[in-house]
Amino acid sequence: MILAFGQQALAADAPPARSTQTMWMLNCQGCHRADGAGTGSAVPPMPGIVARFLWVPGGREYLIRVPGVAASPLPDDSLALLVNWMLKKFDQENIPADFTPYTAAEVSSFRQLGAYGEEAGAIRASLMRVFVPVTSTNP
Ligand code: HEC
Repeated sequence: MILAFGQQALAADAPPARSTQTMWMLNCQGCHRADGAGTGSAVPPMPGIVARFLWVPGGREYLIRVPGVAASPLPDDSLALLVNWMLKKFDQENIPADFTPYTAAEVSSFRQLGAYGEEAGAIRASLMRVFVPVTSTNP
């Protein structure tokens, strides 16, 4: 399936694929800022946090079903590249050693479940409550 090969495969088509940095600037930066710091209290910061969602059950799905990702006009293969890039760019130190990068197929399957609506904030809070026990050495 050609979709899984991302930019390499797209490069064969007429217009060159945009770089992930450019996709971020055009689609995400307005809310998340160039450095992922977010905007006031409405858009949460990413550095030191965003890759920690990968550690908890449901977190991998959460990162794709937030409205900014799942409801984006970008296609699945671009979003997979963009989210993989974003995790590395803003929170590399918290990426689990066994992290498997998102593929277009995985992004597609999460998007088919639908973008979160207003419940995104509550889901985020419940996932973050699990952050501490997972990182703790205590049972
Ligand atoms: C209109 C503003 C807006 C845009 C545009 C936007 N986001 Fe978001 N994003 C948010 C908000 C607000 C949250 C917090 C969850 C929620 O309440 O929806 C969030 C959460 C996230 C999260 C989960 C991280 C966390 O700490 O909760 C990821 C990943 C994410 N966005 C990626 C993206 C990407 C990638 C793009 C561009 C394709 C994008 N967002 C575009 C507003 C935006």
